Amino acid sequence: MAYYNFHSLFTFSIIIISTFFITINGGFSEETIPMKRMEKMSHLHFYFHDILSGKNPSAVLIARAKNSTGVGFGNTMMIDDSLTEGPEADSKLVGRAQGLYALASRHDVGMLMVMNFEFIEGKYNGSVLSIMGRNPVLNPVREMPIVGGSGLFRFARGYALAHTLSFDIKTGDAIVEYNVFVLHY
Ligand SMILES: *[C@@H]1O[C@H](CO)[C@@H](O)[C@H](O)[C@H]1NC(C)=O
Ligand SMILES: *[C@@H]1O[C@H](CO)[C@@H](O)[C@H](O)[C@H]1NC(C)=O
Repeated sequence: MAYYNFHSLFTFSIIIISTFFITINGGFSEETIPMKRMEKMSHLHFYFHDILSGKNPSAVLIARAKNSTGVGFGNTMMIDDSLTEGPEADSKLVGRAQGLYALASRHDVGMLMVMNFEFIEGKYNGSVLSIMGRNPVLNPVREMPIVGGSGLFRFARGYALAHTLSFDIKTGDAIVEYNVFVLHY
């Protein structure tokens, strides 16, 4: 107990000293000792609608390689895809996936995904998760890293599991189920 009190006092002194130090320096940069807080794990489940067909597609081709291989190496799409609670197109909207994906592999249908999941539902409204990863779309389940976030998801890290529910070979439209596991404060 005595040791604990001494330790707390010591930590408290460091904070006071560093605060004082920051005050006299000000300006460009400062370092603080973060308070210990519990990290939370959130599991989010939703469906991603990648719609290339129709008058109002949510995914558009923005670049195509001059002499692409059979796997479409180089083709790049910009997306603003709906994220919904259920798999149906008219299911409740919970967010949007904005960013791009590109065929980044010469050997398989391996995509580079660079996107932000912007949520609009409940306490997550306005919070964002950033994803950057490799998506070999023909695999039944693909794992992509969550590299950061904002709002409720500040300091986020984790992973997303993507599983294609349906794919229309004629139009390219796809519905993908996402399970996201994220650590944040
Ligand atoms: C495209 O690739 C084919 C086969 O590899 C080649 O014969 C052709 O010259 C290439 N065309 C261009 C424009 O590079
Ligand atoms: C989310 O936030 C926006 C802007 O702050 C607000 O207009 C909207 O009504 C909110 N949506 C929900 C579902 O709370």
